[in-house]
Amino acid sequence: MATVEQENPLTEGLERAPVHPTTLIIFGATGDLAQRKLLPAIYNLAHEGALPERFNLIGIARSEQPDDEYRDFAREAIEKHSRRPPDETVLNSLLERMRYVGASFDDPAAYEGLANIARELDDEAGVPFNRVFYLATAPSFFETIARALGERGLDRREGAEVRLVVEKPFGHDLASARELNRGLLSVFDERQIFRIDHYLGKETVQNMLVLRFGNGIFEPLWNRSYIDNVQITAAEDIGIGTRAEYYDRSGALRDIVQNHLLQLLTILSMEPPVSFSADEVRNEKVKVLHAIKPPEPDDVSKRVVRAQYAAGVAEGKEVPGYLEEQGVATDSETETFVSLRLGVDNWRWAGVPIYLRAGKRLARRVTEIAVTLKPVPHLAFQQSGSLGVQPNQLILNVQPNEGVSLSLVAKIPGARMRVRPVHMEFAYGTSFMSQSPEAYERLILDTMRGDATLFARDDEVEAAWGIVDPILEAWSHASGPLPQYAAGSQGPSEAGAILEPGMEWRPL
Ligand code: BG6
Repeated sequence: MATVEQENPLTEGLERAPVHPTTLIIFGATGDLAQRKLLPAIYNLAHEGALPERFNLIGIARSEQPDDEYRDFAREAIEKHSRRPPDETVLNSLLERMRYVGASFDDPAAYEGLANIARELDDEAGVPFNRVFYLATAPSFFETIARALGERGLDRREGAEVRLVVEKPFGHDLASARELNRGLLSVFDERQIFRIDHYLGKETVQNMLVLRFGNGIFEPLWNRSYIDNVQITAAEDIGIGTRAEYYDRSGALRDIVQNHLLQLLTILSMEPPVSFSADEVRNEKVKVLHAIKPPEPDDVSKRVVRAQYAAGVAEGKEVPGYLEEQGVATDSETETFVSLRLGVDNWRWAGVPIYLRAGKRLARRVTEIAVTLKPVPHLAFQQSGSLGVQPNQLILNVQPNEGVSLSLVAKIPGARMRVRPVHMEFAYGTSFMSQSPEAYERLILDTMRGDATLFARDDEVEAAWGIVDPILEAWSHASGPLPQYAAGSQGPSEAGAILEPGMEWRPL
């Protein structure tokens, strides 16, 4: 398979552009995210030869342990979660470059330990390394850590760059997001801050930009004259797993819509940027967010549906309902499903409904954007025997069957003029014959390169919260049990209430 990859001119992994020597410092280095995503992503970067030639990793977490024990932990995490089986030589040389500091994040010893090791590593190499501080901790520590770094002068480094990567959730509502921005910006400059939304690291999400702005065929149609409606879905078959504590305070609107789905929406509907520089792209995305009118309080019940999963069958087994999940209060009003109708009130999109839907424990895992074009004005071959003629639809499949599909109407072979929909497909797997990198690989690499294009800017995060906040506010005044849907189903029957008459959600 490796030879096929090398011979195929269309395959290209993560670019091996030279990156300045970097020390990556992970706060929360023994946590779930580090274990499942960050360490495996770093390994895969090493495997591709995409890490800086001179690279160190310092892990920080509360438990005390020597470097070697942390290396064992990292080895296990990589062996278990890497998308490719690790190569012993690559893995060993990566582990050798790992160090560990055990202290809690409000303990000055953590920062002393960190500063000493980082200095030692620079001295050894004889150059100041760039430093990337990655906050993969509970959000309550984000500001504490940023301030502590600032107080010890670790926020700047002569002759090198210092960057701060902040994981989600970025705030709990608009006010807390603003406060967090203020706190971080009192220490770091905006250009140093990288707010993660891992959806932006997905190949298929970036491909939306290429599809739109690299092909002449779509852009002339990409507006209210030709597009009838858009449905954006992020359905998951999994439940909340062991994350009750986080999820019950969050819910689907905060967990998926405020960040991932609004990001997909902005990329789908933004104007072409003058260039693909971080600020040009983000300026255009922010303009879209500003053009989305949040629902008025009285309108929330007409434009937004929320629900909770009940017991059912998912992932091939019987599963409990949300209220029976361990750690969830039996009278919880947290939504595990949300569907809503938004619109982008600008010249290009006015009047086009954009529907968003996200939920856990649905029939299957699928993230897709379905762009439905207006129907033709007159269908001359409406004969008996034509099957389900529908307007053209462009489906951007983000996951799991990554690709793009365009539905067309075609003639059914035979003597009569009968028609039915067919699909023109582009599938990543067959066109590129290689596995796409995980979102975190691309994003971690970008933080080391200093490219913030795929990260949310301060005003962008706040604008997104501004859309979601009025919904949260309206919900806080409505109490009582939420509508339920069976685990493993298509979602609540109420989900369709926000659609235009005659319209349906795409089946999952
Ligand atoms: C995370 C959410 O941001 O995204 C999770 O907190 C969700 O609840 C996950 O499961 C989905 O990510 P992906 O990449 O599997 O679609």
